[in-house]
Amino acid sequence: MHIAETVSATRDAIAAWKRAGETVALVPTMGNLHNGHLSLVREARRQADRVAVSVFVNPTQFGPGEDYDAYPRTLDQDSALLREEKADLLFIPSVDEMYPLGGNKTWVSVDDLGDHLCGANRPGHFRGVTTVVSKLFNIVQPDIAVFGEKDFQQLAVIRRMTAELMMPIRIVGAPTDREEDGLARSSRNGFLTAAERPRAALLHQHLQQARNAIAAGERDYRALEARLARALGEQGFQVDYFTVADAHTLAPAGPQHQDLVVAAAARLGQPRLIDNVTISLLNT
Ligand code: PAF
Repeated sequence: MHIAETVSATRDAIAAWKRAGETVALVPTMGNLHNGHLSLVREARRQADRVAVSVFVNPTQFGPGEDYDAYPRTLDQDSALLREEKADLLFIPSVDEMYPLGGNKTWVSVDDLGDHLCGANRPGHFRGVTTVVSKLFNIVQPDIAVFGEKDFQQLAVIRRMTAELMMPIRIVGAPTDREEDGLARSSRNGFLTAAERPRAALLHQHLQQARNAIAAGERDYRALEARLARALGEQGFQVDYFTVADAHTLAPAGPQHQDLVVAAAARLGQPRLIDNVTISLLNT
């Protein structure tokens, strides 16, 4: 596996593959890799000849007081895992390499889609994500890029950005990888205490309850949201949002919407956990 710290070294490696007619898939990550990330790498491997993985904890997607400094950085372990997965390239730029002119002045942002759900609680977060992902796309120029469906809103925002900016990149969403009790795998799960860890699975269970209620005919989504958010609160979660949204616009859904996502973000102790389930009412 080739390890590149600079934009130019990354471009040189990719250019050689492209000259040989090989396709390239990119898996952008912030490191602290777990099985969820490795499932994205495996998906990338299935879809392209070469797999590039970036590990970069992007400062512009963290707000003041968020966990940028505390975000786990485990590069030796990450590169060992990626070698086992036979990734071809690991790109590990510094902040200066990604933001060479200091304070960033050029932003890519997606209106509306980025304002709901996590966007409402983390102002500027998606602008940071789309800006850094655009940079990564410009550096690697992949044919395919793979993102996890756990970050449903991130995937929607990136799909929209790629389509509207006419980037010739196919965005692939990969299913959420879960622990046995249903907890979505996340780098932030490591911050759960032993006492919190079993309770964390309740987030997914409540999302499933919402999906079951909707499948059974519940259409008062605001009442459903309030009931399940309150139930999570009683279990010690601080709920940022628990929302039944239209899966296309991410705005709160009404009975007229057919494709739904039930998405939630909640803090349990230190970490903020996010998860979602989708439901299609077509043909029901
Ligand atoms: O999902 C993540 O890990 C990050 O938001 C991403 C896509 C790597 C951008 O920094």
